[in-house]
Amino acid sequence: MRNFPTVLENISDLNFDQLQSLILLSKKFKNGDIPLGHIEMSTGESPIIATSFLETSTRTKHSFAIAIKRLGAMYIDFNAEASSLKKGESLEETLLTLSHQGVGMCIIRTSVSHQLAEFKANPPLKIINGGDGVNEHPTQALLDLFTILECKHGPKNKTIAIIGDCIHSRVGHSLCSLLPQFGMKVILCGPEEFLPKNIPNNIEVTNKLEEAILKSDILYLLRIQKERHQSKSLPSDEEYHQQYGINLEKLKRFSKLLPIYHPGPANIGVEISMEALKSPYYFGYEQVKNSIFMRMAIIKSMFHS
Ligand code: NCD
Repeated sequence: MRNFPTVLENISDLNFDQLQSLILLSKKFKNGDIPLGHIEMSTGESPIIATSFLETSTRTKHSFAIAIKRLGAMYIDFNAEASSLKKGESLEETLLTLSHQGVGMCIIRTSVSHQLAEFKANPPLKIINGGDGVNEHPTQALLDLFTILECKHGPKNKTIAIIGDCIHSRVGHSLCSLLPQFGMKVILCGPEEFLPKNIPNNIEVTNKLEEAILKSDILYLLRIQKERHQSKSLPSDEEYHQQYGINLEKLKRFSKLLPIYHPGPANIGVEISMEALKSPYYFGYEQVKNSIFMRMAIIKSMFHS
């Protein structure tokens, strides 16, 4: 029993032992070493698991839904837009109601940073953060680490350049918290206004793309989170692609045809060219495939600890 948290909000909610056990369990699911079906709660019954996404999602929500079904649990797609949240009911009341209906876990995406922290003292049910505002997206970072291992791109003694809107990226924040624990160096790169000001001293920061590419073994591209920018003038798509976008011609110029990761959704022609996305250097679909195994591992571990 490894005492996994009841509320998984941030990477720091997991200790190193738990992080390692999630990687091992993901690998077992991927290899088919564990028969699918039937996670049980302490009562012996199969849990009901809900997703409640208060912001849009394609990859995260569906990969959780598939992971839940593969584990043999009952899946409820809680439609926040059509719920009493729209009548002013609080998230806490909503979760208490779901828990009284027998829901054992809810995966929540919210635009409010740190909204899930309030449930840690007295959780109404098990909660996984599916992305909260600009805070964190821990399950994405975990599946990225699993993909880096699976594709033999690291992590030990390798460098990853996270390029783009680093300040608004919850994925970027989780990666900065996770990857250095596994011996990976992180460089944040982007235009000055996209770079965070208070950075831990194990993270490097540069506004020079060439420098980031030359120092790195993996490129991790981020979308410009336009919905999180307030009024400030943003570079046009063309300007951004010119300065910080990744295309094969640029990588060849620096003799660095590196693996390219992206959490999605990708804006083609902005942070990545179509040619780069269709090339063998693009690993975004490996991340998508591995996401199911990592999310199965996270859900199972949170029920069985
Ligand atoms: C990200 C998210 O929603 O935080 N995507 C994802 O979950 N795969 C990144 C983004 O929206 O740019």
